[in-house]
Amino acid sequence: MIRKLKSKPVFPISVTSRACVESFLLRLVVGFIVHHTSMVKNAGVTKPTRAPRTLSAHQQKLHARLEGAQFRMLNETLYTTTASEANALMSSDDGTLFRAYHAGFAAQCARWPRNPLDSVLAALREFPSSAVVADFGCGEARLAKEAPQSTVHSFDFVAVNERITACSMSSVPLSDESVDIAIFCLALMGTDYGAALAEARRVLKSGGTLLIAEVASRFEGIPRDDFVEAVERIGFRYSKGHPFLHIAKNDGSARGGSSASRKGKGRRKKRGGNGGGGGGNGASKRGSDFFSHFAFDTVDNKCVDWKEAGLPSLKPCIYKRR
Ligand SMILES: C[S@@+](CC[C@H](N)C(=O)[O-])C[C@H]1O[C@@H](n2cnc3c(N)ncnc32)[C@H](O)[C@@H]1O
Repeated sequence: MIRKLKSKPVFPISVTSRACVESFLLRLVVGFIVHHTSMVKNAGVTKPTRAPRTLSAHQQKLHARLEGAQFRMLNETLYTTTASEANALMSSDDGTLFRAYHAGFAAQCARWPRNPLDSVLAALREFPSSAVVADFGCGEARLAKEAPQSTVHSFDFVAVNERITACSMSSVPLSDESVDIAIFCLALMGTDYGAALAEARRVLKSGGTLLIAEVASRFEGIPRDDFVEAVERIGFRYSKGHPFLHIAKNDGSARGGSSASRKGKGRRKKRGGNGGGGGGNGASKRGSDFFSHFAFDTVDNKCVDWKEAGLPSLKPCIYKRR
């Protein structure tokens, strides 16, 4: 005997209010997708997003929360997986996840005392315009747009504009010793970030420069020298007097740092404290306390495999819910 099954309502609410909830959720999701699709068309540099105007204030609040949650989830994933896992995730769609991540990242940047990319740009003005630059984990490649150098190779998982080459930064399509300056601005993200540093070493010319900017809280509990010495084992030497460190310490104002001090001379003595320590998300901190900066030159001897270099596991930069 076939018994007719009575289907139970999914929500313990009336049909009318369920329809209301469903229609509201649908509008929310559609609004979200439409909003992100419009960013696809403006695939330049993403600005912090705003909810579609058709939503009520309450819906806008929910929309912002959804976006924030999505950004925090993607961000945490990028810090806690390997490059290949992150690549599989980020390149699994038409770039929607990547754009969602960068919309959240842009909102986060707007809260910081300054954007470390500005210090990198100021440092690049100290180099000749003919220097070849490689930007590892370039995001939306603002660096390539604004740097004074005419050749900037920009690498990230997804190419949201024509300046970017889509790839994992642990395997970039450049030949050995073809680059003068390698940049990692907030880009040491995966658990195997050493592979990307080793790749930078491969493509850097002899006498090339590696510049790193990271959120200082990622180094909490990690002696600065442990990180520096591990990077040195991959084929670099810390460059204590580098103009980048000076510029960054002065919150991005490009004072000092003559071009004569630039390539190699007089900056290979001691390493030591620049920025570092502190961290957290408090925008009241000076930029130089908030971010850690490192500058290295290549050396031609004593390279070890990055897995043997003893690179510390950096803390993920986890953003608070707002
Ligand atoms: C926090 S964003 C910073 C973007 C840019 N450098 C800036 O300062 O505006 C870090 C970027 O690095 C990218 N990234 C992280 N690990 C990567 C990897 N293994 N290969 C390629 N891109 C990577 C992420 O996709 C993200 O776009």
